[in-house]
Amino acid sequence: MKIHLLCQSAADSTTPLLTVFAADMATAKDASATPALLVADAALQAAAAPWLASGEFKAALGETFLLPMPAGLHTQRLLLVGVGKVGNLTPHELRRGAGVAVRYARPRSLRDLALVLPQHPSLPPALTVSAMVEGAVVADFDIDFYRGDRKDLGIQTLSILAPNADPEMETALREGGILAESQNFARTLINEPGNILTPTELGRRAAAMAAEFGLACEVHSMQKLRELGMGAFLAVAQGSAQPPALIVLRYEPPSPPAPKAPVIGLVGKGITFDTGGISIKPAENMDRMKYDMAGAASMIASMRAIAQLKPSVRVLAVICSCENMPDGSAYKPGDVVTAMSGKTIEIINTDAEGRLVLADGLHYAQTLGATCLLNAATLTGAIGTALGQINAGLFSNHDATAQQFFDVLSLTGEKFWRMPCGDDYRDQIKSQIADIMNTGGSRFAGATAAAMFLKEFVSEDPLVPWIHLDIAATTWLDDQKPWQSRGPSGVAVRTIIQWVRSYAK
Ligand code: BES
Ligand code: MN
Ligand code: ZN
Repeated sequence: MKIHLLCQSAADSTTPLLTVFAADMATAKDASATPALLVADAALQAAAAPWLASGEFKAALGETFLLPMPAGLHTQRLLLVGVGKVGNLTPHELRRGAGVAVRYARPRSLRDLALVLPQHPSLPPALTVSAMVEGAVVADFDIDFYRGDRKDLGIQTLSILAPNADPEMETALREGGILAESQNFARTLINEPGNILTPTELGRRAAAMAAEFGLACEVHSMQKLRELGMGAFLAVAQGSAQPPALIVLRYEPPSPPAPKAPVIGLVGKGITFDTGGISIKPAENMDRMKYDMAGAASMIASMRAIAQLKPSVRVLAVICSCENMPDGSAYKPGDVVTAMSGKTIEIINTDAEGRLVLADGLHYAQTLGATCLLNAATLTGAIGTALGQINAGLFSNHDATAQQFFDVLSLTGEKFWRMPCGDDYRDQIKSQIADIMNTGGSRFAGATAAAMFLKEFVSEDPLVPWIHLDIAATTWLDDQKPWQSRGPSGVAVRTIIQWVRSYAK
C-alpha cells in the first residue's frame, strides 16, 4: 500500500472512494442532535447535510453510509464512516474508522481511496495521522493465503487529505506504516500452519527479516541447547521430529544510548504446534494450536520495526521455538529436568510447556546482557477465563516498568490488564521432590501460577524489571470486526514497540 499526505481539498479529489468521518453528537441534554462531519469543508457539508439530518445514519462506531455521485464533488463515491460518540473521541476511533473504510473498499475492488483528515480538539493531527495509517494497514490483511480463489484485493494507494502537511505529520505517517506493517508481519507468521512454519522455518523467516532490516541474527539448534544446558527447553523439544530453534536477534542503536538506559531483552514463546504432549489436548480446536508461537512472532515483528525506527536503546530478542509432541522420546509427567539457571523442575503436566521454554529463554537473555525483560506468550487458557478476549494479561515484578508499559497504551489503543504475581502465590508451584513444579495442582489462578513459574527465572538481586504478557485469549479473533479480519490479531506488537521506544526518550 502506498500512503501519502495530500494537501488537496476534498471537493477537488477525484479518488474513486472519498471517506469522511462523522461523529454522533447526541448527548443526555440533547438526545436528538444529528451526527456531524469531523471536517469543516463546505462542499462536503453540503453533500452530506440531508443524510445527516435524515436519521438514516447514526454515526455509530464502524457504521457506514454511501453517497454515490455526490453533487458538488469530483469523487464518484462519498463514504461516511461513523466514529461513535463525540465525547469519547480519541485517535483510536480513527484507527478503527480508517480500517472500516479499507474493509469497505476491498470486497468492492476499489483499490485506491482517500481519507479526509478529521479535525477536532481531541484529535492531535500527528497522532491522528499515525492512527489512521495503522488502522488502514492492519485492515488490509486477510487470512486466505492458501485459497486458490484468493483475490488480490490489497489497497494500492491511500491518500490522507489535509489542509496542510507539516514534518511531524509526515513522520507520523511513516512511523504508523512501519508499526502496522510489523503487526501484519506477525499476523502472517501466526497464520501459517504448523507443517509449513516449523521451528526451522521460523528461524529462516527471522534471519531473512534481519538481513533485510540490518539486525544481527543467530539461529541455533539442538547442539547449542545442550551446550547451554537448556534442560527445560530441551525437555519440550525432545518429543518432536522437528529440531528446535533458538533465535537471537540484536539491535544496536546508531547513537549511544543514555548511560542509565536498560538493555531490553524481548523473549518469545515459539511453540509452532502444541498438542499438549503426553498430557495430550482434546481434538476439538486443537488445530488452533498452530498459533502457539504468537509470542515469538510478536517479538520478531517488534524487532523488525525497531530496526527501522532506530530508537537509542539496545534491544535483543530471544526466541525459543519447538513443537510439543507426544512420542516415544517425549518428556513425561513425573520427569525432573534442570533448567539453564540450575533450578530443577518436576513436570506435572506436559501441556504446561510454554513456561518451560520461556524459563530458559528468560535466563539466557540475562546472560546475554539484558537488564530489563519483556516476554509475550500464549501461555494459559486461564487468562481467557479471567479477562475474556478483550484485555490481555500483564504480570510484572516492577511497578514503574509496568506503568511505563501502560503509559504507551494511549498511543496504541490496545488493552492490557494487570494481574497479580506476588510471592503469596508461590505455594502453587512448590514441589516435594524438586525446586519447583511446572503446574500447580490447583484449578485456581492458573495464569498467575504460570507467571509465578516464569518469575523464578528472573534475577531478584540485582532486580531485573520484567513484564510477562499472556496473550493466549487475544491473539486470535474468532469473529471478524468491521475494521479487522478474523484470525491472528497481532496483539501487543505496536505496544511493545512503543514501550521500547519510551526508553530512548
Ligand atoms: N498453549 C497453551 C495455552 C493456550 C490455551 C493458548 C488456549 C491459547 C488457547 C498452553 O501451552 C497450555 O496448554 N496451557 C495449559 C496449562 C495447564 C496445563 C496448566 C492450559 O492453559 O490449559
Ligand atoms: Mn500447552
Ligand atoms: Zn502452549
